[in-house]
Amino acid sequence: MKDTIVSMQGICKSFPGVKALDNARFELRSGEVMALLGENGAGKSTLMKILSGVYTRDSGTMEIFGKSYDDLLPKQAQQLGVAIIHQELNMCPHLSVAENMFLGREIMKGFTVDRKAMEEAAKQILDDLHIDIDPGETVGNLPVSKQQMVEIAKALSVDAKVLIMDEPTSALTAKEIGELFRIIRKLRDDGCGIVYISHRLEELQHIVDRVTIMRDGQYITCMDFKDTTMDEIITHMVGREIKEKFPRVTCEKGEKVFEVRNLNAGRMVRDVSFALYAGEIVGFAGLMGAGRTETTRAIFGVDHKESGEILLDGKPIPIHTPADAIKAGIVLVPEDRKKDGLCTKLPIRENIAMPNLDLLCGGFGVVNRKKETAMCEKAVSDLKIKTPNLEIDAGGLSGGNQQKVVVGKWLARNSRVVIFDEPTRGIDVAAKVEIYNLMNQLKQQGIAVMFVSSEMPEVMGVADRIIVMCDGRITGELMARQASQTEILTLATKFENKLAETAAEEGQDA
Ligand SMILES: Nc1ncnc2c1ncn2[C@@H]1O[C@H](COP(=O)(O)OP(=O)(O)OP(=O)(O)O)[C@@H](O)[C@H]1O
Ligand SMILES: [Mg+2]
Repeated sequence: MKDTIVSMQGICKSFPGVKALDNARFELRSGEVMALLGENGAGKSTLMKILSGVYTRDSGTMEIFGKSYDDLLPKQAQQLGVAIIHQELNMCPHLSVAENMFLGREIMKGFTVDRKAMEEAAKQILDDLHIDIDPGETVGNLPVSKQQMVEIAKALSVDAKVLIMDEPTSALTAKEIGELFRIIRKLRDDGCGIVYISHRLEELQHIVDRVTIMRDGQYITCMDFKDTTMDEIITHMVGREIKEKFPRVTCEKGEKVFEVRNLNAGRMVRDVSFALYAGEIVGFAGLMGAGRTETTRAIFGVDHKESGEILLDGKPIPIHTPADAIKAGIVLVPEDRKKDGLCTKLPIRENIAMPNLDLLCGGFGVVNRKKETAMCEKAVSDLKIKTPNLEIDAGGLSGGNQQKVVVGKWLARNSRVVIFDEPTRGIDVAAKVEIYNLMNQLKQQGIAVMFVSSEMPEVMGVADRIIVMCDGRITGELMARQASQTEILTLATKFENKLAETAAEEGQDA
């Protein structure tokens, strides 16, 4: 029997208006990978922040390596060997990779920071992990997936005995995920206890030994992974059975609503043409970096278009800025919610109301508070956003609930075209179904829905038609019901030249 290295019992923690943890329990043994599962807002991140000294608990006991701790400071936790990779990236974008990795424990030479020594040490760690990143590079210049790898390398550089990974794969490519799993297995074999939090349940089979399930801040159960099934796990997480993971509604395909003709914008959007019809969801499949996000950004007026036309109801509409797009009835739910979609320091109310002020202002430009409250409450209830009230800062919500706010702010408008870019990233199983239902609802209202997703099962399960992109171009179109995963992959790797193909294999995300 392996030793129990962490034992948390009867943990309670409240934030203003929310009981995040209610008698929660958690145990971890050395040399195991423990998945910590639960819906958005179940309390997973909060519990792990208590274990790593970021938050203090209100009550309960906590033992680490057999010693009990009342007030654990982050530094103390680190010295005990508890390392945490947070759900949201925590890098300083203007500092280098090495500087980020050694933040707060810089290598000194006399009174100055020894940059060279730090870069060498960082290089050693990155090399050990087979991560090909220049330690001198400024973090802000790296793509999100690479930043995530730096975060992981940073956590590993402190000689962790308890390693907490909160959604580490949400921004990684398939190859990087494989690399991460290899590292996790190695650490486990060396006796490290690993806590793995993820909403990508299909990943668990590759690495997990046991699962702990939480719901509403409480401990539900702990099981050996091999003795359970995915359906059982989901039922424990959600508290009920989820019958249909990909609900689909059938609609009559209507008029052509929206059309993009010969759109060019930078290297990643090359001669893109397609149309969206009322009553259908069009999925955009492809590998990471296929140009799908860039296409949505060019359409929405975030990025400059070099050429091409956007038509609504057959009429060309000039879109130079997002404001033009919103005015025309085209909205975008962006991929990176923290950067582009949400003001974390503002309350839910303002996040939802802000893009809709034109609908909420009376004659003198004064916001009609009653209308505003009604709009926000409707969004919260339609999407089942878990919050005690509208005045909570969006940043205080759990990851998945933040995503729902980003979606919610657009629902209030009578849009004609809604573009979703990876809308279910970091969202729990039940909330995913809510997002799919929401897309179905829009589809039934005759709104054209464009749905970018890198998760093949959901594109195949939810979309009516699938457009596949590769290297900035559209390489094919399939009817979702007849499409196979192989067909999609073939189109997703239909490169014009060999060179690009090799580059893509490097960063492939299937
Ligand atoms: N700093 C905070 N201020 C206020 N409320 C908070 C704060 N952190 C968490 N909460 C609340 O505590 C509850 C638990 O949140 P937590 O982030 O632990 O959930 P989670 O299980 O990690 O969810 P997800 O899967 O979405 O990441 C939520 O209702 C959340 O809104
Ligand atoms: Mg969380």
